Amino acid sequence: MLKTLAVANYRSINKLVIPLGRLNLITGPNGSGKSNLYRALRLLAETAQGGVVNALAREGGLDSTFWAGPENITRRMRNGEVPIEATVRQGVKRLRLGFAGEDFSYSIALGLPEKTLSCFSLDPEIKKECIWSGPFYRPASLLVDRDGPMIRAREGRGWEVLAQHTPNFDSLFDQVGSFRTSPEVLQLREFIRRWRFYDHFRSDTDAPVRQPQLGTRTPVLHHDGRDLAAALQTIREIGDPEALQTAIGDAFPGARLNIAPLQGGRFAIEFYQEGLLRPLSAAELSDGTLRYLLLVAALLTPRPPSLMVLNEPETSLHPDLLPALARLIIRASEQCQVWVVSHARRLISALQQDEGCNCIVLEKTLGQTGIVGQRMLDEPAWYWPD
Ligand SMILES: Nc1ncnc2c1ncn2[C@@H]1O[C@H](COP(=O)(O)OP(=O)(O)OP(=O)(O)O)[C@@H](O)[C@H]1O
Ligand SMILES: [Mg+2]
Repeated sequence: MLKTLAVANYRSINKLVIPLGRLNLITGPNGSGKSNLYRALRLLAETAQGGVVNALAREGGLDSTFWAGPENITRRMRNGEVPIEATVRQGVKRLRLGFAGEDFSYSIALGLPEKTLSCFSLDPEIKKECIWSGPFYRPASLLVDRDGPMIRAREGRGWEVLAQHTPNFDSLFDQVGSFRTSPEVLQLREFIRRWRFYDHFRSDTDAPVRQPQLGTRTPVLHHDGRDLAAALQTIREIGDPEALQTAIGDAFPGARLNIAPLQGGRFAIEFYQEGLLRPLSAAELSDGTLRYLLLVAALLTPRPPSLMVLNEPETSLHPDLLPALARLIIRASEQCQVWVVSHARRLISALQQDEGCNCIVLEKTLGQTGIVGQRMLDEPAWYWPD
């Protein structure tokens, strides 16, 4: 489980350290930084898949993702006594991302390329990566240290060099990780690879989910939801079929679901509703109904991830469906850590009924994302390794 997330110098986030629980609800007004925080989490996930440099280039390059304000907003700037202006920079300009987990913690620092002999001028460079034990970084707790091209791991009282020529576009997760020399790299990589993001289910008329799809066992719903029928049937066979029926009855009283195998090994959804003489197919369902079924399939997965992230799951759902969705989210948070970004008042209030809900309300002051009500002392302890 993630205990703390730390982000610095990324878009509207100058510095942010967030305490996390089992069920995390991120909310706040338009432009407060919810999506930026979500993207920062996605970037961290990309490090373990070998895609962080590429993802930043797709965002327009590191320079455009750096926080566009001054490094420090002083008290006098805050009070309006002096205008907002650049302050003398304390260190080199870095985008920093990190998290503290149960056993190990990780951080990465990315910077602009020093010499641009290469055509890949949008690609940032990975400058530093560290893995340490426990939640707070101390030099003594450092286990794996990547400094530029050099990766070394602690070995007894000294250090063993694992790689000397790591390309600046590769993360340590791409280069090292073996049971013998760096088991913590292996463990963290697997942990991060088991994060699951759902932020863009397709439900338009041409969406693959509206057509019959290949029926193969699917314990994990595809991120765009294309294999919904197979995922629902997998829940019926090896998951929790009662919870599935309850979730459907909860939202659509009297409704029932069937998955019909077609010729050629394809599966089709049959949705029986009160008053209709025949079931409806996925092509005939409304956007909201289809999206609710997609969320049900994602949340009742028979193979829970280590972290499930839902970005604005309320999209196209009627407010009356939101309490049922909240019940599903709370149920999922018993199996895995959950992160929900939402605007919807009914979803937020239903999730807040759960005593384990960690509600983080973001606000933007002078362009900078902060947490409503967080004072210096409430912030979890976090030290960047350099
Ligand atoms: N490089 C940057 N430096 C500073 N601020 C930035 C930078 N890039 C984007 N922003 C600002 O970050 C703010 C927060 O954006 P974000 O998309 O995270 O908001 P949001 O909370 O998701 O809002 P919404 O509810 O509208 O989706 C925006 O106002 C945007 O102008
Ligand atoms: Mg947003």
